[in-house]
Amino acid sequence: MELLRQKVINEGIVLEGQVLKVDSFLNHQMDPVLMQAIGKTFTQLFADTGVTTILTIESSGIAPGIMTALEFGVPLIFARKQKSLTLTEDIFVETVYSYTKKQSNDITVSKKFIHPGDRVLIIDDFLANGEAASGLARIVKQAGAEVVGIGIVIEKSFQPGAQLLIDEGYRLESLVRIRSLDNGRVEFVDE
Ligand code: G4P
Ligand code: NA
Ligand code: NA
Repeated sequence: MELLRQKVINEGIVLEGQVLKVDSFLNHQMDPVLMQAIGKTFTQLFADTGVTTILTIESSGIAPGIMTALEFGVPLIFARKQKSLTLTEDIFVETVYSYTKKQSNDITVSKKFIHPGDRVLIIDDFLANGEAASGLARIVKQAGAEVVGIGIVIEKSFQPGAQLLIDEGYRLESLVRIRSLDNGRVEFVDE
Protein backbone atom coordinates (compact mmCIF):
# COMPACT_ATOMS: atom_id res chain seq x y z
CA MET A 1 0.00 0.00 0.00
CA GLU A 2 1.85 3.01 -1.36
CA LEU A 3 0.35 5.73 0.87
CA LEU A 4 1.27 3.76 3.98
CA ARG A 5 4.72 2.99 2.68
CA GLN A 6 5.37 6.71 2.14
CA LYS A 7 4.19 7.44 5.69
CA VAL A 8 6.62 4.85 7.06
CA ILE A 9 9.46 6.28 5.00
CA ASN A 10 8.71 9.90 5.90
CA GLU A 11 7.65 9.58 9.53
CA GLY A 12 8.85 6.22 10.88
CA ILE A 13 11.72 6.27 13.35
CA VAL A 14 13.87 3.20 13.92
CA LEU A 15 14.63 2.63 17.60
CA GLU A 16 17.00 0.29 19.42
CA GLY A 17 15.89 -3.35 19.49
CA GLN A 18 14.38 -3.50 16.01
CA VAL A 19 11.41 -1.33 16.89
CA LEU A 20 9.79 1.01 14.40
CA LYS A 21 8.20 4.03 16.02
CA VAL A 22 5.14 5.27 14.16
CA ASP A 23 3.63 7.52 16.79
CA SER A 24 2.70 10.26 14.34
CA PHE A 25 0.10 8.25 12.41
CA LEU A 26 -0.63 4.86 14.01
CA ASN A 27 0.28 4.39 17.67
CA HIS A 28 -0.34 7.75 19.30
CA GLN A 29 -1.48 10.49 16.96
CA MET A 30 -3.63 8.85 14.29
CA ASP A 31 -4.18 9.88 10.70
CA PRO A 32 -7.87 9.35 9.90
CA VAL A 33 -7.45 9.70 6.12
CA LEU A 34 -4.75 7.04 6.14
CA MET A 35 -6.86 4.90 8.47
CA GLN A 36 -9.81 5.11 6.10
CA ALA A 37 -7.59 4.07 3.18
CA ILE A 38 -6.33 1.15 5.28
CA GLY A 39 -9.94 0.06 5.90
CA LYS A 40 -10.73 0.24 2.19
CA THR A 41 -7.62 -1.74 1.27
CA PHE A 42 -8.39 -4.54 3.73
CA THR A 43 -11.96 -4.62 2.41
CA GLN A 44 -10.67 -5.17 -1.13
CA LEU A 45 -8.12 -7.78 -0.07
CA PHE A 46 -10.68 -9.83 1.89
CA ALA A 47 -13.72 -9.07 -0.31
CA ASP A 48 -14.40 -12.74 -1.12
CA THR A 49 -14.30 -14.10 2.43
CA GLY A 50 -17.87 -13.51 3.58
CA VAL A 51 -16.67 -11.79 6.75
CA THR A 52 -19.29 -11.22 9.44
CA THR A 53 -17.11 -9.86 12.25
CA ILE A 54 -13.83 -7.97 12.64
CA LEU A 55 -11.70 -8.87 15.67
CA THR A 56 -8.74 -6.86 16.95
CA ILE A 57 -6.99 -6.13 20.25
CA GLU A 58 -6.78 -2.92 22.22
CA SER A 59 -5.46 -0.35 21.79
CA SER A 60 -3.68 0.27 18.49
CA GLY A 61 -5.65 -2.29 16.52
CA ILE A 62 -8.91 -0.46 17.11
CA ALA A 63 -8.45 2.32 14.53
CA PRO A 64 -7.63 0.12 11.52
CA GLY A 65 -10.20 -2.37 12.83
CA ILE A 66 -13.08 0.10 13.02
CA MET A 67 -12.36 1.50 9.54
CA THR A 68 -12.34 -2.01 8.09
CA ALA A 69 -15.55 -2.85 9.93
CA LEU A 70 -17.19 0.32 8.62
CA GLU A 71 -16.28 -0.56 5.03
CA PHE A 72 -17.55 -4.13 5.38
CA GLY A 73 -20.65 -3.02 7.29
CA VAL A 74 -19.99 -5.48 10.13
CA PRO A 75 -19.23 -5.00 13.85
CA LEU A 76 -15.78 -4.63 15.37
CA ILE A 77 -14.85 -6.46 18.55
CA PHE A 78 -11.65 -5.58 20.36
CA ALA A 79 -10.15 -8.08 22.76
CA ARG A 80 -9.21 -6.63 26.11
CA LYS A 81 -5.84 -7.12 27.80
CA GLN A 82 -5.77 -7.93 31.47
CA LYS A 83 -2.80 -8.58 33.73
CA SER A 84 -4.33 -11.62 35.34
CA LEU A 85 -7.79 -12.85 35.66
CA THR A 86 -10.22 -14.72 37.79
CA LEU A 87 -11.90 -17.03 35.34
CA THR A 88 -15.55 -16.49 34.73
CA GLU A 89 -17.91 -18.40 32.50
CA ASP A 90 -18.97 -15.61 30.23
CA ILE A 91 -15.63 -14.76 28.58
CA PHE A 92 -13.16 -16.46 26.26
CA VAL A 93 -9.59 -16.14 27.59
CA GLU A 94 -6.19 -16.81 26.00
CA THR A 95 -2.75 -16.02 27.37
CA VAL A 96 -0.43 -14.06 25.10
CA TYR A 97 3.25 -13.49 25.76
CA SER A 98 4.82 -10.27 24.52
CA TYR A 99 8.51 -10.67 23.71
CA THR A 100 8.73 -6.91 23.28
CA LYS A 101 7.32 -6.16 26.71
CA LYS A 102 8.50 -9.42 28.33
CA GLN A 103 5.20 -10.07 30.01
CA SER A 104 2.14 -12.23 29.62
CA ASN A 105 -1.32 -10.83 29.32
CA ASP A 106 -4.64 -12.54 29.36
CA ILE A 107 -6.72 -11.39 26.44
CA THR A 108 -10.47 -11.69 26.73
CA VAL A 109 -13.60 -11.47 24.62
CA SER A 110 -17.13 -11.74 25.94
CA LYS A 111 -19.00 -14.85 24.79
CA LYS A 112 -21.84 -12.51 23.84
CA PHE A 113 -19.99 -11.30 20.77
CA ILE A 114 -18.55 -14.32 18.89
CA HIS A 115 -20.68 -17.32 17.98
CA PRO A 116 -20.42 -20.56 16.01
CA GLY A 117 -20.79 -19.81 12.30
CA ASP A 118 -19.24 -16.34 12.52
CA ARG A 119 -16.63 -15.59 9.84
CA VAL A 120 -14.00 -13.54 11.60
CA LEU A 121 -11.33 -11.29 10.08
CA ILE A 122 -8.50 -10.50 12.51
CA ILE A 123 -6.91 -7.04 12.12
CA ASP A 124 -3.89 -5.67 13.98
CA ASP A 125 -1.42 -2.81 13.66
CA PHE A 126 1.87 -4.74 13.95
CA LEU A 127 2.92 -8.33 13.37
CA ALA A 128 6.18 -9.28 15.07
CA ASN A 129 6.23 -12.65 16.82
CA GLY A 130 2.60 -13.35 16.06
CA GLU A 131 1.58 -13.90 19.65
CA ALA A 132 -1.31 -11.43 19.58
CA ALA A 133 -2.72 -12.65 16.26
CA SER A 134 -2.50 -16.33 17.17
CA GLY A 135 -4.08 -15.63 20.57
CA LEU A 136 -6.97 -13.92 18.82
CA ALA A 137 -7.28 -16.87 16.43
CA ARG A 138 -7.46 -19.27 19.40
CA ILE A 139 -10.32 -17.23 20.84
CA VAL A 140 -12.19 -17.50 17.53
CA LYS A 141 -11.70 -21.29 17.63
CA GLN A 142 -12.91 -21.47 21.22
CA ALA A 143 -16.08 -19.78 20.04
CA GLY A 144 -16.57 -22.37 17.30
CA ALA A 145 -16.24 -19.64 14.69
CA GLU A 146 -13.92 -19.45 11.67
CA VAL A 147 -10.91 -17.20 11.00
CA VAL A 148 -11.27 -16.08 7.37
CA GLY A 149 -8.06 -14.06 7.35
CA ILE A 150 -5.55 -11.93 9.19
CA GLY A 151 -4.90 -8.35 8.06
CA ILE A 152 -1.84 -6.54 9.37
CA VAL A 153 -0.89 -2.91 8.85
CA ILE A 154 2.88 -3.30 9.34
CA GLU A 155 4.55 -6.71 9.17
CA LYS A 156 8.08 -7.10 10.48
CA SER A 157 8.96 -9.92 8.12
CA PHE A 158 12.32 -10.57 9.79
CA GLN A 159 10.51 -11.77 12.94
CA PRO A 160 8.81 -15.17 13.06
CA GLY A 161 5.11 -14.18 13.26
CA ALA A 162 4.25 -14.05 9.56
CA GLN A 163 5.67 -17.49 8.76
CA LEU A 164 4.07 -18.95 11.87
CA LEU A 165 0.60 -17.76 10.86
CA ILE A 166 1.08 -18.96 7.27
CA ASP A 167 2.26 -22.36 8.57
CA GLU A 168 -0.90 -22.55 10.68
CA GLY A 169 -2.84 -22.17 7.43
CA TYR A 170 -4.14 -18.63 7.82
CA ARG A 171 -4.60 -16.26 4.93
CA LEU A 172 -2.32 -13.35 5.82
CA GLU A 173 -2.35 -9.95 4.11
CA SER A 174 0.06 -7.25 5.31
CA LEU A 175 -0.13 -3.74 3.90
CA VAL A 176 3.59 -3.12 4.22
CA ARG A 177 6.27 -5.71 4.87
CA ILE A 178 9.58 -4.74 6.43
CA ARG A 179 12.60 -6.86 5.63
CA SER A 180 15.04 -5.12 7.94
CA LEU A 181 15.46 -2.30 10.42
CA ASP A 182 19.22 -2.71 10.58
CA ASN A 183 21.46 0.35 10.86
CA GLY A 184 18.54 2.63 11.62
CA ARG A 185 17.10 2.16 8.15
CA VAL A 186 13.74 0.77 6.99
CA GLU A 187 14.07 -1.76 4.16
CA PHE A 188 10.87 -3.12 2.62
CA VAL A 189 10.49 -6.71 1.41
CA ASP A 190 9.98 -5.78 -2.22
CA GLU A 191 13.04 -3.58 -2.74
P1 G4P B 1 3.42 -10.06 18.60
O1 G4P B 1 2.02 -9.91 19.07
O2 G4P B 1 3.53 -10.06 17.10
O3 G4P B 1 4.12 -11.25 19.21
O4 G4P B 1 4.17 -8.77 19.04
P2 G4P B 1 5.00 -8.41 20.36
O5 G4P B 1 4.43 -9.16 21.52
O6 G4P B 1 6.42 -8.54 20.02
O7 G4P B 1 4.57 -6.90 20.48
C1 G4P B 1 4.07 -6.31 21.65
C2 G4P B 1 3.52 -4.94 21.34
O8 G4P B 1 4.49 -4.17 20.60
C3 G4P B 1 2.27 -4.92 20.50
O9 G4P B 1 1.54 -3.79 20.85
C4 G4P B 1 2.84 -4.77 19.08
O10 G4P B 1 1.87 -4.20 18.22
C5 G4P B 1 3.96 -3.83 19.33
N1 G4P B 1 5.08 -3.87 18.39
C6 G4P B 1 5.87 -4.90 18.03
N2 G4P B 1 6.87 -4.49 17.23
C7 G4P B 1 6.69 -3.16 17.08
C8 G4P B 1 7.39 -2.14 16.37
O11 G4P B 1 8.41 -2.36 15.71
N3 G4P B 1 6.90 -0.88 16.46
C9 G4P B 1 5.79 -0.58 17.19
N4 G4P B 1 5.39 0.70 17.19
N5 G4P B 1 5.10 -1.50 17.88
C10 G4P B 1 5.56 -2.77 17.81
P3 G4P B 1 0.72 -3.74 22.18
O12 G4P B 1 1.54 -3.98 23.38
O13 G4P B 1 -0.40 -4.70 21.99
O14 G4P B 1 0.28 -2.26 22.33
P4 G4P B 1 -0.86 -1.34 21.73
O15 G4P B 1 -1.65 -2.10 20.75
O16 G4P B 1 -1.65 -0.93 22.91
O17 G4P B 1 -0.09 -0.25 21.07
NA1 NA C 1 0.94 -1.73 19.22
NA1 NA D 1 -1.66 -4.16 18.48
